[in-house]
Amino acid sequence: MSGADVAGADVTDRRTPAERAARLRKLIEHHNERYFVLDAPEIPDAEFDALVRELRQIESDHPEVVTPGSPTQRVGGAAETHLFRPVRHRIPMMSLDNAFDRAELDAWADRLRRLLPDVDVERLDFCCEPKVDGVAMSLTYVDGRFVRAATRGDGVTGEDVTANVATIRDVPHELKTPAPHHLEVRGEVYMATAEFAELNERAEKQGSKTFANPRNAAAGSLRQKDPSVTASRPLSFWAYQIGEIDGAVPEEGAAGGPAKRREASRAWPPATQSGALEAIEAAGFPVSPDARRVRGVTAAITRCQELEAHRHDLPYEIDGAVVKVDDLSLHVRLGATSRAPRWAIAFKFPPEDRTTRLVDIMVSIGRTGRATPFAVLEPVFVGGSTVRLATLHNEDQVRVKDVRPGDLVIVHKAGDVIPEVVGPVLGPGAGTDGQGPRATERPPPWAFPTTCPSCGGLLTRLPGESDTYCTNIDCPAQRVQRIVHFASRSGMDIEGLGEERVLQLVQAGMTADPADLYLLEAERLAALERMGAVSSRHLVDAIEGSRSRPLSSLLVALGIRHVGPTGARALARAFGTLGALRHASADELAAVEGVGAVIADSVAEFFSNQRNVTVLDRLIALGLRTDEPGATGAAGAAPAGAAPAGAAPAAAESAAPQTLAGKSVVVTGTLDGFSREEAEAAIVSRGGKSPGTVSKKTFAVVVGASPGVAKARKAEELRVPIVDGARFGELLETGELPG
Ligand code: IVH
Repeated sequence: MSGADVAGADVTDRRTPAERAARLRKLIEHHNERYFVLDAPEIPDAEFDALVRELRQIESDHPEVVTPGSPTQRVGGAAETHLFRPVRHRIPMMSLDNAFDRAELDAWADRLRRLLPDVDVERLDFCCEPKVDGVAMSLTYVDGRFVRAATRGDGVTGEDVTANVATIRDVPHELKTPAPHHLEVRGEVYMATAEFAELNERAEKQGSKTFANPRNAAAGSLRQKDPSVTASRPLSFWAYQIGEIDGAVPEEGAAGGPAKRREASRAWPPATQSGALEAIEAAGFPVSPDARRVRGVTAAITRCQELEAHRHDLPYEIDGAVVKVDDLSLHVRLGATSRAPRWAIAFKFPPEDRTTRLVDIMVSIGRTGRATPFAVLEPVFVGGSTVRLATLHNEDQVRVKDVRPGDLVIVHKAGDVIPEVVGPVLGPGAGTDGQGPRATERPPPWAFPTTCPSCGGLLTRLPGESDTYCTNIDCPAQRVQRIVHFASRSGMDIEGLGEERVLQLVQAGMTADPADLYLLEAERLAALERMGAVSSRHLVDAIEGSRSRPLSSLLVALGIRHVGPTGARALARAFGTLGALRHASADELAAVEGVGAVIADSVAEFFSNQRNVTVLDRLIALGLRTDEPGATGAAGAAPAGAAPAGAAPAAAESAAPQTLAGKSVVVTGTLDGFSREEAEAAIVSRGGKSPGTVSKKTFAVVVGASPGVAKARKAEELRVPIVDGARFGELLETGELPG
């Protein structure tokens, strides 16, 4: 899925509301995952917000199409919990409803009037705060000591990032004032604009990955396995809310004199949001100096507009202002919807426009061969960063926008991610008569190239499709992108293997496909430019380390169309092993919860392609792990390719490749993810035998945890090869002894 789908969908939409809603939900899920899980958004926030708004509109016009799982009913961002321990939020960390203009803010005020008939909303106090663009964080203090930091995650379960957050200078380890026994403070971890620019500059110099914006940089810095990496990143924190409070405020034992202690204990629990900000500031947290208490809706709107006018004078990025009802007792009365409280609203600033020269339009080739046009711009500063390139999505988008090299164009960016070319600024007379400038003033419309800029092959666009493709599978640009994707974080997560490095490897003839990575040797790598002995060792180690990634990572890494981390996990959990998955029919695949016909067809098609199978078999032969820990085998495919549910055993036997035909494999000890019966069934389904005793004819003894001493000793005595239990999957896949 790409921005092209998003923009394209708006232009040509003839779907029913239910279809359109389903499509929007898919898009929103996809972009939520890119944003929250992968920290790699593909579209600007404003565009994302527009998708959500469109979905809300459809759902409100056609309530019958609302589904319980719709993203409009939930807080964004699924918790990605395999790196950090999950933490449940006792009070959910909600999202905020957005207002995009004054009318929407007025509508919120009207709702307050309706819900609080006895309150004069015109005289109500509001607390207006900048909406800092960072990562929401919950900090827990017990008896004044910092004990835990957790991300928002899906709102209910976040990730424990205590070790990383403990390195942020703004986060106090001990509170300065007496506070309740258990105190949760919520706020935003962010990176100041100047620090962000400096960090990126350094990264660029070192040839390492740069971040798209301060929010991404903050999120990426928090998701480090090694806290010393987080410590090296210039992160800051603003506290903006009190979460859970429990227990009284101690009178004794805190710093300060008796007067101070009395004052502090009067501060808890605060009665207002502005009082809460004062109390947490006194306790030692940084609180935005731009937060203001104002009286009445009109004053709140004025304050939002002030913040908007000054947004670029602030040393950090804000994407809006948050207006909160100040009286906390009203928060209880107003309550919340399933995703957002009714007592607050985020006033989102509109995207900013800037003008610059469109120097050229070029085409890049992705891993699937998709040819994406992009604008080369005269550098322009928009929304906190300098923009030089902007995607133009596809041929139709260029035509609709009618931008041509040499044009002055409008570029915008909603204080966030991907800059976009809005359209040309046409000369005087343009637009007044609808004719635009005279033809002589502008070059002719840009034409999509007919050949691939990388391999020179023909580019093709199928009728009815918006994308253009280079169909030459050997195209060097595609190779590079496939390998980059393979090594990416959601794939095999090989550190140090970015686009530049991969290009170098491909150009040096060292790597043509992902399997070649596992044959790289440090000595040969060290001969490459910008690659010392240490970095080549690191790279080889990182590649080696990736062999043990679970099946779900491998599935993402293979770049099967439509298969992202969520779909990959569903498939891997259901089938357990690559062997079971690759031989499943599209129907069996589609039967997995969370896997629809589109993914199922795409997966089946992928495994039916001989080129893919060849690369896959090489990867297996090279010793990559091909199973998933904790798989249920619920798809009926028992681990290692036994029968799908309901299928007769005979059918299962013939369905699995007969890699162990005529071979006898003895299993001893427990194998990860297999019961003894399942392990034996897997051997039998591959054409092998699994007797209970070791003999001279035994092909291999697979040794799991706590093995039987007799079998292991016998194997040694008879010199029967011993296979580590962890490599059982490999033995099944290949029928060979793992090297
Ligand atoms: S209050 C229940 N105040 O915006 C709502 N949020 O879109 C609690 N944010 O997840 C949030 N500045 O990460 C609040 N002054 C502020 C904020 C703020 C930034 C973020 C926060 C939240 C998101 C909601």
